[in-house]
Amino acid sequence: MNRQLFPSDFLWGGAIAANQAEGAWNLDGKLPSVTDVMVGIGTDKDTPSIKFNKETGIYDLNFKPDKVYLSHEAVDFYHRFEEDLNLMKEMGFKAFRTSISWARIFPRGDEDIPNEKGLAFYDRLIDCILENGMEPIITLSHYETPLALVAEYGGWLDHRLIGFFERYARVVLKRYKGKVKYWMTFNEVNNAYRMPFVAAGVASMTPQNPEYPVADLTEADVFQANHHLFVAHALAVKLCHEINPKAKMGGMYSFSSLATYPKNCDPNNVLGALNFTRKSYFYADVMTRGSYPGYIKRIWRETNSHPDIREGELELIENYTSDYIAFSYYRSAVYDKGTEMIINTGGAAGGVENPYLEGTSPEPWKWPIDPTGLRYVCNMLTDRYQLPLMIVENGIGLDEDPDSSGLIQDEPRMKYLKDHIEQLREAVQDGSDILGYLWWGPFDIVSAGTGEMKKRYGFVYVDRHNDGSGTLRRLKKQSFGYYKQIIATNGEELEYDHFV
Ligand code: BG6
Repeated sequence: MNRQLFPSDFLWGGAIAANQAEGAWNLDGKLPSVTDVMVGIGTDKDTPSIKFNKETGIYDLNFKPDKVYLSHEAVDFYHRFEEDLNLMKEMGFKAFRTSISWARIFPRGDEDIPNEKGLAFYDRLIDCILENGMEPIITLSHYETPLALVAEYGGWLDHRLIGFFERYARVVLKRYKGKVKYWMTFNEVNNAYRMPFVAAGVASMTPQNPEYPVADLTEADVFQANHHLFVAHALAVKLCHEINPKAKMGGMYSFSSLATYPKNCDPNNVLGALNFTRKSYFYADVMTRGSYPGYIKRIWRETNSHPDIREGELELIENYTSDYIAFSYYRSAVYDKGTEMIINTGGAAGGVENPYLEGTSPEPWKWPIDPTGLRYVCNMLTDRYQLPLMIVENGIGLDEDPDSSGLIQDEPRMKYLKDHIEQLREAVQDGSDILGYLWWGPFDIVSAGTGEMKKRYGFVYVDRHNDGSGTLRRLKKQSFGYYKQIIATNGEELEYDHFV
């Protein structure tokens, strides 16, 4: 049989984010970014630890004494990246995705001159990725808007953020010209509509609204902030191509939410599911097709939420669209017209379970496992955009510790991986042009949604715990050898029995 599996230059690898791995949250000139003041996005979203001080005109940090902010030290990737990247090399990684922490480069976000110490760190890190034979894939902002821009400007509601972001993007695009080919702008930018504070640094945290940053955001505010993000994305694409015509800039989306199935053939459920997915498609429609779709203009008209669009901005959005589509996929959801849908880090969830799926990740997270959803999403994206795709996050969080002999048995992770790679093969055969597959959290890092260490995604265990204790020692799990085998055979050999 003449099957096309994966192209020979397929980018197998893994992905992390600065704020979930580096730690060193206040070292070498760095100031806080949005995630530094939250324990977890899902658990702490309405009460970030920050207060605007009307007297001084600046913000005060207000950490809660009873909470552990694990991301402040995270897994100390800032000091241990050489060891970690060596392990990734041992697995045969072709690519490694991380973010540059914007607040290391421009600590407040609005300075004229970048912080040389922050740049020096990423010089070392990116060189180390390259020396280990991997393609560095860089996110410009992974839930990492500098806090001063949120607290003092109101975040992406303020038009000036576009200029600050452009300045930051220019500095790093130039600095890593010839070293970094694949870039993306805002991690899971489509989460801005449900998690505006963190997903895109959008907040109404202004002097008028010091205590509850997201409480009074209107729909019009979110459309306005989105518009600024779109203009910033277009400018980043423009800069990227001017600085290095060979480099590629992608948008990055949480597209688990595209695998939202209608509960049944009730036309209202079918249409409801379509409209729900459009809340995510909307972002890619603008950033890759270059214009606002009619279904969004209708909402603007009917809810009086038309954003303020300045001269020349629509042309920018039209002329500078993404080179590829990067997305995360973890799970699928079911839409039922009577039930509220929610969005969190892993995608969408409704109140309805899907009886056709094999299972979920363990308690308490219980994310439905749906490998076919990955094939479905790749196909939907290919049909709609005809652009190369990159899966930049996929994985399963398990609660695991070494057994008495020091072994970490993670068969459910191997099964999840096998089943998703099988579906990815199908997507390639269906005609999707897929650049790479990056496992989320190839070594354990802090969970974005819950702020825990306990929710582990890694092929490598990191000895750190929810209470902040641990030696930070790295330990290979069973799945380490399995992913190595997958990469070595370019996705051919998926059996894992001999690792169990
Ligand atoms: C993605 C985010 O949505 O989901 C990551 O981009 C995050 O930052 C990942 O870690 C998994 O979510 P969680 O909540 O399990 O860490």
